[in-house]
Amino acid sequence: MKSLVIVCLLEVVFGWWSTGHMLVAQIAQNVLQQENPEVLSIANQILSPLYGPLTHGISSSFVESAVWCDDIKSYNFDVYNNWHFIDKPYNYDGFANATTSGEDILFALSNSIWTLQSQNYSVAILETSIALRYVLHFMGDYHQPLHVTNFWSRNFTQGDEGGNLFPITFDNQINELHALWDSCMGVWADDLPRPLNSDGWYNLNMWAEWCTGNNTKQDLASELAIKELSLWQYDTYRIAIDYAYYGIKPNEKPSEEYLKRGWKIVLKQLALGGYRLANLLISLFGQTSALS
Ligand SMILES: *[C@@H]1O[C@H](CO)[C@@H](O)[C@H](O)[C@H]1NC(C)=O
Ligand SMILES: *[C@@H]1O[C@H](CO)[C@@H](O)[C@H](O)[C@H]1NC(C)=O
Ligand SMILES: *[C@@H]1O[C@H](CO)[C@@H](O)[C@H](O)[C@H]1NC(C)=O
Ligand SMILES: *[C@@H]1O[C@H](CO)[C@@H](O)[C@H](O)[C@H]1NC(C)=O
Repeated sequence: MKSLVIVCLLEVVFGWWSTGHMLVAQIAQNVLQQENPEVLSIANQILSPLYGPLTHGISSSFVESAVWCDDIKSYNFDVYNNWHFIDKPYNYDGFANATTSGEDILFALSNSIWTLQSQNYSVAILETSIALRYVLHFMGDYHQPLHVTNFWSRNFTQGDEGGNLFPITFDNQINELHALWDSCMGVWADDLPRPLNSDGWYNLNMWAEWCTGNNTKQDLASELAIKELSLWQYDTYRIAIDYAYYGIKPNEKPSEEYLKRGWKIVLKQLALGGYRLANLLISLFGQTSALS
């Protein structure tokens, strides 16, 4: 029992901290406003029953709804924590027992999409609203390299839990690799106060442009041509190996070079997650006429 509790505590890992999640949703929203405002309006209709007090007044917009799945953890609602990641082994030293668990982000994202595909919004207002919140959230986590990877090596004979057990020297707030990536190389470590005020919205919009400026839809055309959820995962996993785990050793301070390369990847992954989220919502709701 004791060891179970410890395992559960260790598994409490947040995805991109709140700014990263809101950026993915903001980027998707910007695309939808341009390309398919009707789909955005349907998404808002589905989300809106949980706006206000049911989500503590901090999740009353499409963008802020992307953080709800992490918000619930502060009320010890931890039953779904394992849905936020997949421990695909990066098995450096060939440990025989490195495996994935099954009830992971691929399972949870596909299931949430399935709920939305069944289109029973009018008879399942709560379920549909929750499912869409999960989709907004997981589309962020699925593009965070250390949410799809678990590094096994002689240093981590039980895996490093997506960098959570990989100590680094950085600052007072960030002392392991997972947090460095969740906080977007430390740049967005401080959460914007929610509900977002006008400064918050202003910053979020500006930062969304930082992400998309050098990562337009054309720039990412080849990534956007890939439609399968499982293949998105392999892309993100490859990035973990080539960037997150490359050029850094346990207990080191990340080099300028590492942070610079990582920052570029972060901007690209947030943009890609946002574009794919927009495309996904268009595929889900593009044929739906206004909900009654
Ligand atoms: C996995 O293998 C390592 C190294 O052989 C061992 O120390 C560890 O106890 C094993 N873990 C499990 C869960 O079997
Ligand atoms: C929900 O949607 C599915 C697929 O569209 C349908 O088969 C099912 O009957 C619906 N459930 C209810 C309770 O209407
Ligand atoms: C794009 O990249 C160039 C070169 O790295 C940089 O100078 C510029 O500020 C970037 N533009 C945006 C919009 O991020
Ligand atoms: C394990 O950690 C040591 C000390 O930080 C480091 O020198 C070594 O390269 C690490 N091994 C791997 C496979 O990362």
